[in-house]
Amino acid sequence: MTKYGFATLSAFVFGMGSMFSGNALAVDGDAARGDRLASSCMACHGTEGRSNMPSMYPHLAGRNAQELADLLTAYRDGDIDEPQMTPQAQNLSDQDIADLAVYFSEQEPAE
Ligand code: HEC
Repeated sequence: MTKYGFATLSAFVFGMGSMFSGNALAVDGDAARGDRLASSCMACHGTEGRSNMPSMYPHLAGRNAQELADLLTAYRDGDIDEPQMTPQAQNLSDQDIADLAVYFSEQEPAE
């Protein structure tokens, strides 16, 4: 967290969540393009982001798009350094992140 503290980020994420009822409005991404990019994520995060092992690989399906985009940006920029996930995010553009975030936000959530 170099750009902002955790409390600020949380307030932002939860604030966005309550401002928008639809996830897609918060992040300007293309779900169809995100779908294509997401094929590399499913080995760990499960089909359409519903994890088979959520204690290790978090569910992505049906989550707030802004939250997913913020997390992906934090991995990419090194604000979260995690040996499995950081390398996955390193080559993503801002557009890739937005497309992936919108795609996963629109998938049916895990129970
Ligand atoms: C090699 C396995 C692997 C692959 C492939 C992978 N991830 Fe991850 N991902 C992880 C792990 C492990 C974590 C949890 C890391 C942690 O605890 O910080 C994670 C965490 C995340 C998180 C944060 C979730 C949360 O609740 O904190 C997001 C968002 C995410 N991944 C998105 C993606 C996307 C999008 C892709 C494809 C571009 C992808 N991941 C590919 C292993 C993977």
